[in-house]
Amino acid sequence: MTRSAFFPNEIKDVIIIGAGPCGAGFTKSLLQDRSKYRSIRVFERRSVAGGLWNYDDVDEPLTLGPSTHAINPKNSNTGKYLWPTAAHKDLDTNIPYELMQYNTFKWTEKRRLFPTRSEVLKYFQTYSEAIEDYVEYNTSVVSVKQLDDLKWEVVVRPVSTETEGSLKQSFESGFEDRVFIADAVVIATGHYDIPRIPDFKGLKSWHQKYPGSIIHSKSFKSPEDYSAKDKILIIGNSASAVDIIVHLKSKWNTEIDIYNSIRSKNNDSSITIPGLTAVSEISQFNASEQSVEFKDGKRITGINKIIFATGFLRTFPFLEDINSSNKPLLKSGNRIHGLWRHILSYEYPGLAVAGVPKYGGPMALAEVQGAWLSRVFLGEIDLPSINLMNKWEKDREGKLGHDAPNFHFLLHPEDVSYYNMLVREVKESSNPSAEGIEYLSQYYSTVRANFKLIKKKYYDMISATGSMVYELEELQSKAPFKLSTFTPGPLDV
Ligand SMILES: Cc1cc2nc3c(=O)[nH]c(=O)nc-3n(C[C@H](O)[C@H](O)[C@H](O)COP(=O)(O)OP(=O)(O)OC[C@H]3O[C@@H](n4cnc5c(N)ncnc54)[C@H](O)[C@@H]3O)c2cc1C
Ligand SMILES: NC(=O)c1ccc[n+]([C@@H]2O[C@H](COP(=O)([O-])OP(=O)(O)OC[C@H]3O[C@@H](n4cnc5c(N)ncnc54)[C@H](OP(=O)(O)O)[C@@H]3O)[C@@H](O)[C@H]2O)c1
Repeated sequence: MTRSAFFPNEIKDVIIIGAGPCGAGFTKSLLQDRSKYRSIRVFERRSVAGGLWNYDDVDEPLTLGPSTHAINPKNSNTGKYLWPTAAHKDLDTNIPYELMQYNTFKWTEKRRLFPTRSEVLKYFQTYSEAIEDYVEYNTSVVSVKQLDDLKWEVVVRPVSTETEGSLKQSFESGFEDRVFIADAVVIATGHYDIPRIPDFKGLKSWHQKYPGSIIHSKSFKSPEDYSAKDKILIIGNSASAVDIIVHLKSKWNTEIDIYNSIRSKNNDSSITIPGLTAVSEISQFNASEQSVEFKDGKRITGINKIIFATGFLRTFPFLEDINSSNKPLLKSGNRIHGLWRHILSYEYPGLAVAGVPKYGGPMALAEVQGAWLSRVFLGEIDLPSINLMNKWEKDREGKLGHDAPNFHFLLHPEDVSYYNMLVREVKESSNPSAEGIEYLSQYYSTVRANFKLIKKKYYDMISATGSMVYELEELQSKAPFKLSTFTPGPLDV
């Protein structure tokens, strides 16, 4: 299908929403084709680059049950507005730094093999200097609509004292909403803002009886907020659960009592933590007896802290029209509907979403996805027919379920296949050269295949010796272990 058959308007003006790590990667790739566009604008509600890696100690009130509201900014009393972030004080990465870098900007400064939150933030903010001239910070996108001529109307609101951090519209001169018309909109607002808290029987009564005892992992700040006397239930078995347990156990050692309710196998971590009690899925909370019952019949009393590490719901609060139409991008928040290559909406020409696939390193992928999308926008990559795009989606739904949370999971080696497929489409396009767009090397593919094992060995080494490790080679020489070799998967994911 040619560009003009899919996009009725030539794509000249592009708006990117969000200047976090993925928005920055997309923007840098689009800027390689700068002369072919009339305008490229980025709106970012924060005052700085780096997205969720900007830690703050802002608390978010707990919402029980499904919640798809936009998270409100908080006034820090320093003239700045902050958005609660899922990053916590002592966060480090769960993939080695080599998988957390852009192809056009490699890490140069010495940092840990798994960099700390502030090392990562500095790296992203330095990278983002390259797109600085195109970004309007302190500017929140509040509405995105497709008009009758299929152009996009984007309303932005300044985040200022006058607008109460974009909560209130202000008509004072210099602070009013602005409206932009664009041919294409790229949503790069991230995927980890709205906590998913399952509605277990008895949870609301528990919350009423023991206010403050329940949090979602998004609000976890530090193990210092807990004590050795606590009896903690952590629900979930993925990156957040393991990360929080590691930090609690490192601080409080064996003294702290932790129960981990597990529903399924962990795809994010293979760290094993001694002194942890694994329990099955929850059946109900009994506030009157301060007990929790599990599906395997077990019952635990005296739990005084509960942490839901149960993941996040995707949200696009500014897409009200589309999401209330009969072809919404979001239904429950579990996945995004109607995307080709996990990027391009085939129902709404000109709309795309950045950084959707999970696993495998979002930074290099953002640049590759951005290069692919720019070529699609410019007619340099032809799209298949809408029927074929729809068939691909239906086939995947057939395998995974219609609204499956794992719809965009690209578990290894699907992550490598997907990445290389986009690279191949760029290289076979009528504009094949782009900085940083190369097939994944055997080395990177092998590191991807082994990221969980590498983190486990790193964690074990630091726990045993207390000494820091900076390179993979150094880790392997201190504690020899074998990396499994990478096996390529099918290309069509
Ligand atoms: C706890 C945690 C730990 C993680 N650890 C790792 C890790 O170790 N390695 C890894 O590779 N990934 C990790 N991730 C994944 C993480 O999502 C990526 O590292 C990265 O932040 C993705 O970038 P992003 O730009 O998609 O999203 P974000 O970082 O969330 O950035 C989105 C940006 O969009 C802005 N925005 C949102 N809405 C609007 C609006 N309406 N108008 C204007 N701007 C808006 C936000 O302010 C933000 O700056 C982690 C995620 C979490 C939650
Ligand atoms: N750098 C780090 O160390 C770090 C730390 C935290 C998070 N992260 C990143 O942040 C992102 C989010 O990770 P996350 O761990 O918060 O979310 P996640 O990966 O989506 O995991 C959610 C967990 O909650 C479980 N769950 C969901 N609903 C449940 C229910 N009703 N009952 C029981 N269990 C339920 C899931 O089980 P099912 O699989 O059965 O659904 C899964 O184990 C990931 O990209 C991750 O890599 C990184």
